[in-house]
Amino acid sequence: GGFAAVVVAAGSGTRLGHGMPKALVPLGGRPLLAHALEGVRAAGVAGRTVVTVPAGDTELSALARACGAEPVEGGATRAESVRRALAVLAGERPAGVLVHDAARCLTPPAVLRAVADRVRAGARAVVPVVPVVDTVRRVDDDGRSLGTVDRSALRAVQTPQGFDAALLRAVHAAAEAAGTDPAAITDDASLVEAHAPGTPVETVPGHEHAFKVTRPLDLLLAQALLEQARD
Ligand code: CTP
Ligand code: MG
Repeated sequence: GGFAAVVVAAGSGTRLGHGMPKALVPLGGRPLLAHALEGVRAAGVAGRTVVTVPAGDTELSALARACGAEPVEGGATRAESVRRALAVLAGERPAGVLVHDAARCLTPPAVLRAVADRVRAGARAVVPVVPVVDTVRRVDDDGRSLGTVDRSALRAVQTPQGFDAALLRAVHAAAEAAGTDPAAITDDASLVEAHAPGTPVETVPGHEHAFKVTRPLDLLLAQALLEQARD
């Protein structure tokens, strides 16, 4: 069977500061979400695609439908948005689920395919990762330095993250049952270690173009990459 894709696009984009949902912010004349959904389409891995949109939205919903995806109102946090999308997929038995940030709008389709391929090959949880480029220090609550962390053992985690569908549903349900603050859940794979201990989270190489558009500088970088791709 095919994969289901969950594209989370219900955030407000506070750090980007455009006064509109981040997924609607134009990049090369099209909303971020259009780029993200184009990448999912080009990867050719997803049967159904569910897109979480902000409450009261009409524009992102229309865009999702025009791209053949199904909009659903998201929640107050990313984790709650993922749960709402999974509820739409209840009753489905996809080969796997890809959970992807709309904000990683220039993710190369090859990354989506690599994650899906690993799930298809039997991995139950897969994350794309990249090396950490800065030297990293641990600090205490007052900001006092506790020393440098060995960067060579660290990876930054991107999306799409790929899962066995039953596992993804189970770890979200377990986190909810445990009363975990959804705002503290920054990605889905971290729930696997917390609620399905012993289940390996496998890594595949991510890509520098899969960075998350978070702050204004990130949008400038995305614009530069688009212009370069046009040349
Ligand atoms: N997201 C979501 N529902 C939420 C919060 C976030 O679907 N309640 C999505 C965002 O739309 C984004 C992804 O999760 O594609 C990653 O979140 P983030 O980069 O934090 O986006 P925002 O929450 O929109 O940005 P900010 O935190 O600056 O407001
Ligand atoms: Mg956010």
